[in-house]
Amino acid sequence: MTQAHVPVMLEEVLDLLSLKPGGRILDATLGLGGHAVEIARRLGPNGVVIGLDRDPELLKRARERLLPAGEARRAGAEFRLFHSRFSRLREVVAAAGETQIDGVLLDLGVCSVHLDEAERGFGFRTASEDVPLDMRFERTCSEESAAELLARVDEPELVAILRAGEVPAPRRVAREIRARLPLRSTRELEAASRAAGLPRRRHHPATLVFQALRIAVNQEFEELERALDAALDVLGPGGRLVVLSYHSGEDRRVKNFVRREQRGCICPPRLPVCGCGRSPRMRALGRLRRPSEDEVRANPRARSARLRAGERQE
Ligand SMILES: C[S@@+](CC[C@H](N)C(=O)[O-])C[C@H]1O[C@@H](n2cnc3c(N)ncnc32)[C@H](O)[C@@H]1O
Repeated sequence: MTQAHVPVMLEEVLDLLSLKPGGRILDATLGLGGHAVEIARRLGPNGVVIGLDRDPELLKRARERLLPAGEARRAGAEFRLFHSRFSRLREVVAAAGETQIDGVLLDLGVCSVHLDEAERGFGFRTASEDVPLDMRFERTCSEESAAELLARVDEPELVAILRAGEVPAPRRVAREIRARLPLRSTRELEAASRAAGLPRRRHHPATLVFQALRIAVNQEFEELERALDAALDVLGPGGRLVVLSYHSGEDRRVKNFVRREQRGCICPPRLPVCGCGRSPRMRALGRLRRPSEDEVRANPRARSARLRAGERQE
């Protein structure tokens, strides 16, 4: 049976968003609305939660849960929900009728539903069945599935995808995968990953291979970089950006973004005076936060979570 998605680091996220009654918050990774429901409760009846998700199937379920009765009525704040990508969050905020908002939440990666529902092709735990190797958030879009991507790329490109996903021994894994092409099912990819002889450390050897491919199929790093820039544009002074990531490639991008925006000036250090004229647009709110041991015990899927936040400056 599909488990509900348990919102990760919920109390920390709510605190960092610094929610005020009547505020406007964008949940740019709505999922099933686990964080959004609690945000809405704290914003109260005059507040607005703008929600978006790239996955139309999850968004449909979120709509059923949040609109118009049920949770929404109890929660108080109004929900305005959109099918979109977070790289387009400027357009979504405008479509929701807002110009400046008080907070943006990005809870990256996949929902438990994606992993639990085998036919989405995101995971391998249920690889006893022949599940097509898909991994697209939008199954109806014309973009390529994981199986099509593997069939198209050459060896150096596949090595680069695996390396970006921080898969150990990417050349060895790429050769093993390519020797078995065409790979059409999650079971075949899991077998190829296992045959590459990766050591079993914290994860099953296939975990990082599946994650690396998913990131490439959905162009997740590019999406994230665009979303971070866009988020700063829609936040008003004092607005909060809160990001939960689950992969070091994601967290590094968030960390570097906050550092850069906190510094402002982007002139090379050898220049005696600043020529770019950029001033800091953001202030980091503390350092990296991780889930407590209790949370990880109760929800093992939280174990790789990393939380960072920043505040928009004038
Ligand atoms: C970890 S889940 C969010 C769970 C949610 N916070 C909750 O508590 O229910 C991440 C969600 O982000 C969505 N997503 C992934 N990439 C996206 C993108 N580029 N734009 C919009 N949504 C995206 C996924 O479809 C998934 O529903």
